[in-house]
Amino acid sequence: MINRIQELMQQVETLQACTLEEVEGLRIKFLSKKGIITELFNEFRSVPKEEKAQIGQALNCLRQAAESKINGMREALAESGAAAKSADVADLTRTPDPIGLGTRHPLSLVREQIIDIFSRVGFTVAEGPEVEDDNHVYSLLNFAPEHPARDMQDTFFIEKEIGVQKPSDILLRSHTSSVQTRVMLSQQPPIRVLCPGRVYRNEAISARAHCFFHQVEGLYIDKNVSFADLREVLLYFAKEMFGPETQIRLRPSYFPFTEPSAEMDISCDLCGGKGCSFCKGTGWVEILGCGMVDPNVLESCGIDSKVYTGYAFGLGVERITNLKYRVKDLRLFSENDVRFLQQFEGC
Ligand code: PHE
Repeated sequence: MINRIQELMQQVETLQACTLEEVEGLRIKFLSKKGIITELFNEFRSVPKEEKAQIGQALNCLRQAAESKINGMREALAESGAAAKSADVADLTRTPDPIGLGTRHPLSLVREQIIDIFSRVGFTVAEGPEVEDDNHVYSLLNFAPEHPARDMQDTFFIEKEIGVQKPSDILLRSHTSSVQTRVMLSQQPPIRVLCPGRVYRNEAISARAHCFFHQVEGLYIDKNVSFADLREVLLYFAKEMFGPETQIRLRPSYFPFTEPSAEMDISCDLCGGKGCSFCKGTGWVEILGCGMVDPNVLESCGIDSKVYTGYAFGLGVERITNLKYRVKDLRLFSENDVRFLQQFEGC
């Protein structure tokens, strides 16, 4: 018997299998109820007493060797099967999933459209810094020193020294008129510029107000520029932006840097001017501020106000975008929620 055990030991050590089914076949052959090794254990009962110890030990060794060999083969095959599967996932010859194209932000779309409309009548783009000084944002634009817009409530002032709250004349611009100031200081008329950009105001964030928003302001200075020219260019803009049926109306208003000043409304395109909840029953919605450049502003910027006159206007890009696309909550513009942004695909 001991010889058979030794022979089987050699066989077990050299066992081989290529598939899990073959491994299972070997298990049945050696270890199942009717397997060779199990049979040997049955025969072991009739082994003479004095040989039992030696043969019993050899038999146990054989069974352990067979079990560990067969289990080892099973594990190795299962592992290489999993590896083969994961190699499938990383198949480098597969065509990749298409990468979705991003969309342009609605504010960029509308800003570009505004610039395009005005550039067709000769306006070019001028840009300037967002971190500005009081002079360019307020003083040169005829704001009296005590004007409420300079108040801490509206303007973000920047401390010159960190942690030291001294009155500062460095601030985040609250309108892009500061770029107009820079243009007037650096060139003589004729001037015809558009100043697009981000502006900052110290407001609580809500659906209707934000601490930053975007403007496009316009400035035209030449000989004999009149309020009628301003009205014509704004009517042209309104029709191009909101459709040929659009009407405009100018209401008197006040800005320190323009005289006379006005606010412009367009006919409500939801109700066609009849009055609805969107226009609060008036048939009109406000879209921008404008006016003739105050002679004081021209003079402070080195332009002869006896020779030249000019007009200026300023509109909020968010406001125009809201009107065009009926966006009810301003915060959507800066939250970068793709579900919102994707709606402008193809615009
Ligand atoms: N700068 C003004 C504002 O922010 C808008 C404006 C520009 C009004 C030009 C009149 C003329 O709010």
